Amino acid sequence: MNVPVFQMRNVSIDIGSHKTSARRIAYGVDIELHRGRTLALVGESGCGKSVTALSAMNLLSSPLRISEGSILLDMEGETRDIAQLDPSGAQMRQIRGRRIGMIFQDPMTALDPVYTVGNQIAESLSHHLGLSHKAAWAKAVDLLRLVGIPAPEQRARSYPFELSGGMRQRVMIAIAIACSPSVLIADEPTTALDVTVQAQILELLRELGEQLGMATLLITHDLGVVAENADEVIVMYRGHVVEKAGIDALFDNPAHPYTQGLMASLPPASGERVELTPIPGQVPSIMEVIVGCPFTDRCPHAMQKCSELMPALTAISPEQAVACWLYPAVVEAQA
Ligand SMILES: Nc1ncnc2c1ncn2[C@@H]1O[C@H](COP(=O)(O)OP(=O)(O)OP(=O)(O)O)[C@@H](O)[C@H]1O
Ligand code: SF4
Ligand SMILES: [Mg+2]
Repeated sequence: MNVPVFQMRNVSIDIGSHKTSARRIAYGVDIELHRGRTLALVGESGCGKSVTALSAMNLLSSPLRISEGSILLDMEGETRDIAQLDPSGAQMRQIRGRRIGMIFQDPMTALDPVYTVGNQIAESLSHHLGLSHKAAWAKAVDLLRLVGIPAPEQRARSYPFELSGGMRQRVMIAIAIACSPSVLIADEPTTALDVTVQAQILELLRELGEQLGMATLLITHDLGVVAENADEVIVMYRGHVVEKAGIDALFDNPAHPYTQGLMASLPPASGERVELTPIPGQVPSIMEVIVGCPFTDRCPHAMQKCSELMPALTAISPEQAVACWLYPAVVEAQA
């Protein structure tokens, strides 16, 4: 496989900085993104998906902070560790939007209600690429066409409130890809939309990723979305990467009991009515001090060792790695 364009290496995220009161939200996360491919980050609410996405853009703000690790971005052959840059500094602002595009769940909060959508796309192009107003406007219209907005010349003059939720999300995608970023981070980009529109937007993201050679990190709590749209998958549980696999390996042979639980609670793609089995209990809060595997209380296979030591993510095949004592594993380094 080609060289990754983006890598998070051993990234941990803490809330607070005091030695005794700081809480760990993400533990030594490794993520690699490749051009033209989509990696899905999946897990239930509160598993740490969004804080991981924010850290990937060096966007965490106090009390959250990256406490260790590096975030390596390839910038035309030169690799920068963006975790070392000031999150609110000029360099980081230039990288966001230009090198890393972002799409969030709710486009209404990300779009400015007082400017037309054409102006908002054009503004990003002028800011990052130095295009004249006329050239930026023409490109904005092209981008609206590319993301499937009908009559783009007229739509460019619309304000966000004049567009449907699906159209607004298409505008957000146009803004995110405007400067041809190498990395696209989409955090639950379709949960606010109805099911048919969701499928269209996800398909659009996938097509654009392949067509423009972007490396996409797609965050979702929905394994159905993962099955349709990802090449590789990372399953996260309470801040730990518990399974990492190619899409076929994950669905053919889900190895971690948490992944198996998520699969059992997924309606079959056939639409057949079957009884689903939700995972009992819930993700432990960050206030709970956890020793050992955080899934112990919910796991049907838990054994003594599980509540004592956390297993490290360990390869079980060239395509798949898992952090679970059911497989030969080593102890994870403790924070
Ligand atoms: N600013 C913050 N201050 C305190 N705790 C936070 C903050 N942001 C996130 N957390 C906590 O960090 C943990 C991970 O949150 P995160 O938002 O990353 O979860 P998520 O996997 O994205 O969930 P969801 O599917 O609900 O979006 C949660 O326990 C959350 O309460
Ligand atoms: S380590 Fe133990 S508790 Fe955790 S998932 Fe594996 S078997 Fe279950
Ligand atoms: Mg989230």
